[in-house]
Formats: sequence, structure tokens, C-alpha cells
Amino acid sequence: GKTIVVTGVASGIGCRTAELAGQMGANVIGIDRSKPEQGFGQFLKGDISTAEGVASIAGALPDRLDALCNVAGVSGKSGAADTLAINFFGLRALSEALAPKLREGGSVVNVASIAGYGWRENGARAAAIARTTGFPDATEIVVQHDIPNDAGYPVSKEILLVWTMLAAHQEQFRSRGIRVNAVSPGPVETPILQQFRDVLGDARVNSDVEAVGRAGTPDDVAPAILFLCSDAARWINGTNIAADGGLEAAVTVQAH
Ligand code: NAI
Repeated sequence: GKTIVVTGVASGIGCRTAELAGQMGANVIGIDRSKPEQGFGQFLKGDISTAEGVASIAGALPDRLDALCNVAGVSGKSGAADTLAINFFGLRALSEALAPKLREGGSVVNVASIAGYGWRENGARAAAIARTTGFPDATEIVVQHDIPNDAGYPVSKEILLVWTMLAAHQEQFRSRGIRVNAVSPGPVETPILQQFRDVLGDARVNSDVEAVGRAGTPDDVAPAILFLCSDAARWINGTNIAADGGLEAAVTVQAH
């Protein structure tokens, strides 16, 4: 079977992605800073919020991997710098550290969010931050680009969507046929959703849920992630698939 690395496996979408990949016959290596309640495959405790954390995770992983599912993320409640460090810089650092271990034709899937769909309007900032290299000081970036704490989450996902496109054409991935794509969920019933309710208010989350009839479940998102990992997605590169029950379409149609 394939060897698939999944981050954020202690909860929600990452947990379900790992389970499903295991059921489909993959050898799953799960990473999280918290310990998962249920066991599946191998678990590696690690924190992607710092360069050291990423280096220690990368060092502990085997030399040949088929796919990396970047699912770990935070809601923005911990402030813009921490949110950028985890949702973007840590995710990118792990992807780049694992690029040499990914087999030719392998796959990287970044879980972004429809909250990042403002990247076109905020494209200059998103591209500037996506084009930084290494693991910059997130606090400095937040000050430099004047990112308020309540915008940390959407901005982190805007940058991630832009970087997904850049990375697809980045030498270390493209030269070896490693595809880089994103999946953007709408509201999904996991612990992070309560944090979004705290930040955005119940009314906003409820209206999004009502627009599509129900909140998503991790089971509504995990298959899209694993599809992008599979060889069936071999001609899909540098793009984004929404798994939002039609929410983005509803919002777009309403606006026109
Ligand atoms: P969750 O909160 O249930 O799971 C996130 C997991 O990431 C947790 O197990 C957490 O320990 C782990 N994590 C956080 N920071 C970490 C770090 N520094 N190092 C290692 N692990 C870390 O949330 P959920 O819903 O499963 O979210 C997964 C992804 O989906 C996130 O990137 C989130 O932004 C995205 N998403 C979720 C939506 C939702 O409504 N649930 C909507 C849109 C996007």
C-alpha cells in the first residue's frame, strides 16, 4: 500500500482522513501535537508551529512517502501570528522538508478553507507572504503587513491558496511530478467550529449552515482529500476543490 502522512489526526477532518486512508489499504502515519483518542496506523507526536518542530517531525518520517495531507490548523483564536505560523509557515515548512521523501508522482494536499476565497482581492499581500522563504518570524510578518488578529484565519488561508498554486510550479515539487492541491471545506461539525462560532458569532455560522441545509461532517471532506492523493487525480495540479455542500455557489449566485 501507499504511505500517507496526515497532520491534525487527533481530531476532526484529519482523524477521519487517516481512518479512511487506512481502510483503503494505506499505511498511515498520523501527526498531531495532541494525542489521538483512537489508534490507527502509526502516530507521531509533533508540533508544526516552529521550525524545530517541523525538523523533528521530518527527521522521524521514513524516506519514501506517497502523499502528505496537511490538515492540521487552528481557528485564529490564538492571534494572527500563531495562526499564520501553524496554518501557513509550518504547513509549508513541513511540505518542503518532505519534498525529497515524496516519491515521483506523489501528492501534497493542503486543507485551506472557503474563508480564504478573498485571495483574489487581497492577492498582493497573499502572494508577498506566500513568496517568503523558510520559516519567517510570524510576528514580524503580521506587523509588516498590518494583519489584525481577527483577520489571521482568513489571511492564513488566502496565503495557503496562493502558495498551493505557486508550489505546483516550484522546482522541488514540479521537477518530480509531485502535485500540490487544496481542499476548502465550508463549516464542518468538529471542535474548531465552536471556535469559529466564538469568533464570528453564531448568526454568521448558522446562516452559512442554513444556506446548504446542514453543517458538513469530516466524512464529507476526507474523500476529496484522498481523491487528490490518488493517481486518479494525476492531471489535477495547483488547484482547489471546495467541499462545502454548495455554500460558495450560493453566496456567489446571491451576489449577482
Ligand atoms: P480540529 O480542531 O478538530 O482539528 C485540528 C487538529 O490540528 C487538532 O487535532 C490539533 O491538535 C491539530 N493541530 C493544531 N495545531 C497544530 C500544530 N501546531 N501541530 C500539530 N497539530 C496541530 O479541526 P478540523 O475541523 O478537523 O480542521 C482541520 C482543518 O480544516 C483545519 O486546517 C481547518 O482550518 C480546516 N477547516 C475546517 C473547517 C470546519 O468548519 N471544521 C472549515 C474550513 C476549514
